[in-house]
Amino acid sequence: MVVKNVCCIGAGYVGGPTCSVIAWKCPDIKVHVVDKSEMRIKQWNSDKLPIYEPGLDDVVKECRGKNLFFSCDIEKGIKEADLIFISVNTPTKTFGIGKGRAADLKFVEACARKIAEVAEGHKIVVEKSTVPVRAAESISHILSANTRPDVSFQVLSNPEFLAEGTAVTNLLYPDRVLIGGEESAGGDEAVAELMWIYTHWVPKEKIVTTSTWSSELSKLASNAFLAQRVSSINAISAVCEATGADVSQVAAAVGLDSRIGPNFLQASVGFGGSCFQKDLLNLVYIAECLNLPEVAMYWQQVTDMNEYQRTRFAKRIVECLFNTVTDKTLAVFGFAFKKNTGDTRESPAIYVCSHLLEEGARLNIYDPKVEPKQIEHDLTSSSVTDDPERVQTLFSTYSDPYEAAKDAHAIVVLTDWDEFKNFDYKKMLDSMKRPAFIFDGRKMLDHSALIKLGFHTETVGKRFARNALLRASGEHFPAFSWTP
Ligand code: NAD
Ligand code: UDX
Repeated sequence: MVVKNVCCIGAGYVGGPTCSVIAWKCPDIKVHVVDKSEMRIKQWNSDKLPIYEPGLDDVVKECRGKNLFFSCDIEKGIKEADLIFISVNTPTKTFGIGKGRAADLKFVEACARKIAEVAEGHKIVVEKSTVPVRAAESISHILSANTRPDVSFQVLSNPEFLAEGTAVTNLLYPDRVLIGGEESAGGDEAVAELMWIYTHWVPKEKIVTTSTWSSELSKLASNAFLAQRVSSINAISAVCEATGADVSQVAAAVGLDSRIGPNFLQASVGFGGSCFQKDLLNLVYIAECLNLPEVAMYWQQVTDMNEYQRTRFAKRIVECLFNTVTDKTLAVFGFAFKKNTGDTRESPAIYVCSHLLEEGARLNIYDPKVEPKQIEHDLTSSSVTDDPERVQTLFSTYSDPYEAAKDAHAIVVLTDWDEFKNFDYKKMLDSMKRPAFIFDGRKMLDHSALIKLGFHTETVGKRFARNALLRASGEHFPAFSWTP
């Protein structure tokens, strides 16, 4: 069999970009992306795609209507396809056994059942979603239990490693493509078919094949390792703040060790995104179920450290602002979980803002890509507040950062958008209340320039031996501050 038709169930942050790149690089393959959400499909077929990813618009424009199609006709997509990606969401369970930790596989299971129900002939079913180890076994069970005599399946694991904001580049130049398959002739054949698709643009030596279970676990392990690096440097950032060391200098020195390397050592207000927290918790749950409590505790600590970092930053803002933010106006720059995406899932901004709102602060929020409706949804959701009406009265969204900063007591930077580096902070300072504070949760601004301008500047993993502004004026110098 040579794959001519690919179907992808799930037109989200993974399914959409991945299949757009496959269509672009494989003009000989017809790619049909299907989703149960009419709204999402409508957006994929419009000029404003449902997700913001640099470079994605061009890829979609190039292929849509030629060999790339988006529709809600899931049955047709499955019937026509030789190979089906399951790329649906696998969120943390919110109820029942494993609540708050285990991955909810109901969407993956629904896909397997739909495939079993309507498939004809031989199909290769590929797990693209991030799943617990041995999920492929459950998919195989469902498929085989519902098989008609003329239908057969091979299930592969092909986890996705793209990061949001850089999805197109990551897909075009992946560090590796991982394919896990059954160790059998049928499994090898299916692996070869999927490999053939990737070899249209990925060098063969970057395509790694393993057993299905190793492939599934490698995805969880990769995310756990990445998150662990961020939590490790954030833990060090707390030590830096307490001692006078600078976490950027420490990270640079540590990262020069070729065994450690420089990436993913940027101290921050905490990691966010739809994957790290969910996949860590999933790993913790798996370890607990396997009766490996020490392993579970080890990975749990990575997410606990992340929560500590977010809370620590929010508390520091309150403390610096003379221990109260009630009725003070704070301009919040950035709400997305990282730059170059409009995605807010698990964004540290949600947690920091909620803490400040809880304290009675008034927030003027600016983000270049996040829709105001999304911010409203995130800040009033029942998972972060039990008083959405009160919260609603305490924040506003702005499309102009200068307007957001006007009359504010402080600026709080929560996302690493490049444009924040180029703002005219003198202009902002002139319109702000005094003393004017800036809290850089991404350690990305020019702090000496800000201090020179007259901002009381605070950042992650560094104490400035200054804040001469407050001292010179004889005003209260926050007691928690470390003085050299
Ligand atoms: P998403 O929520 O953006 O998209 C999932 C889509 O699947 C939604 O549009 C939803 O409507 C659709 N869907 C759910 N059940 C369906 C069904 N039965 N039939 C048809 N459509 C259905 O999710 P995502 O961010 O694209 O993540 C998908 C998977 O990829 C997850 O397992 C995630 O862990 C993994 N992953 C995500 C990223 C990332 O950066 N977002 C990176 C790597 C891996
Ligand atoms: C992550 C993985 O990187 C990717 O391989 C996987 O497929 C999906 O999950 P993503 O969540 O999109 O990707 O973004 P990533 O770049 O990993 O950043 C995650 C969070 O960590 C962001 O909030 C980011 O700001 C933060 N981060 C990252 C840091 O705080 N410091 C760093 O050094 C790196």
